[in-house]
Amino acid sequence: MKGKILVTGGTGYIGSHTVVELQNDGYEVVIVDNLSNSNAEVIDGIEKISGIRPAFEQVDCIDFPAMKAVFEKHQGIRGIIHFAASKAVGESVEKPLLYYRNNLDSLLNLLELMPQFNTEAIVFSSSCTVYGQPDILPVDENAPIKPALSPYGNTKQICEEIIRDTVYAGTPIKSIILRYFNPIGAHPTAEIGELPNGVPQNLLPFVTQTAMGIRKELSVFGDDYDTVDGSCIRDYINVVDLAKAHVIAVNRMLENKSLANVETFNLGTGRGLTVLELINTFEKVTGVKVPHKIVGRREGDIEKVWANPDHANNVLGWTAKETVEDTLASAWKWQLRLRERGLM
Ligand code: NAD
Ligand code: WQD
Repeated sequence: MKGKILVTGGTGYIGSHTVVELQNDGYEVVIVDNLSNSNAEVIDGIEKISGIRPAFEQVDCIDFPAMKAVFEKHQGIRGIIHFAASKAVGESVEKPLLYYRNNLDSLLNLLELMPQFNTEAIVFSSSCTVYGQPDILPVDENAPIKPALSPYGNTKQICEEIIRDTVYAGTPIKSIILRYFNPIGAHPTAEIGELPNGVPQNLLPFVTQTAMGIRKELSVFGDDYDTVDGSCIRDYINVVDLAKAHVIAVNRMLENKSLANVETFNLGTGRGLTVLELINTFEKVTGVKVPHKIVGRREGDIEKVWANPDHANNVLGWTAKETVEDTLASAWKWQLRLRERGLM
């Protein structure tokens, strides 16, 4: 074994896919998750894929004594991947204090505990949302951080600053900040995938649920943007590609290859796709129609954003490999599996 990695939010969408890739790379994984936006059955799916059942602690990351007990119980945690957070933009506008408490306190607890237990590395889940609407596209890591459009986005900006300040103060830890673009898809085995609670806020789960007949019709939020077909552009990245980048980041820090104690990378494909292009591609790949209508713009939506992934490609040696077609097919396969299992 290459050592023990703590994955907070490890039964969540991106976290569960990352646990599989960490195990495939020879790490022992301890999941901490309070199941506020996931369920423990995800662990069965992880085990079915990797053949290894990760340790699991149902703990709230904002509970300092409980988190300290996790470090005491699971001695020798070398690194952390911190996924645990609340992530619904709209909800963050309605409940800002919940988002500041959850997303900031969980990180503060980890940063305080790391030196006490000689945990040397932390990967932080950030988001391209920190860029707002970039002035220059594709957007690279040197783009200016724009005033956040939501408390959620603000928590990501603040967490990045907390990490930088903590490391620059001389705390004996390293960090890699990963700014994700739009993660989509599911593991090719369809044993794990995205399980949104309630009505999906994100595009692809709404597409697959509409295709399945769970939702009557997809609303496309605007076709009057300055894009090829008027709908917004995003950089949709396969969730397994994204997970693999996290393993590379952990290895980089634990093998002392980091060029600085805090590094930041955009994780995207470098390819922009409009909403209507995504829908059309989904229909072509699956042969299933997605009833949809154009409605007004959604408040706070960025018009167009896609990554310049050169830094991650050249420095991490990581590139998004999966095609959008295969990724959309994986999302549909996962939706069909949920139906088979009577879950949706
Ligand atoms: P998710 O909700 O599926 O996973 C988050 C997990 O964290 C859930 O299992 C939830 O139960 C858990 N959690 C939340 N608060 C917790 C707490 N206080 N203690 C313990 N567990 C807690 O979300 P995801 O899509 O997998 O996102 C993971 C991370 O990536 C988040 O930090 C999110 O902000 C970030 N991110 C996500 C996207 C995206 O589009 N999904 C894009 C950019 C960044
Ligand atoms: C994608 C596109 C919508 C739903 C959000 C967060 C971001 C990150 C990823 C956490 C947009 C359009 C969507 C629908 C639609 N999350 N859309 N009809 O808004 O790019 O990013 O999720 O970190 O922080 O802001 O993703 O999937 O919600 O939307 O037309 O029913 O699809 O307008 O253009 P978004 P999304």
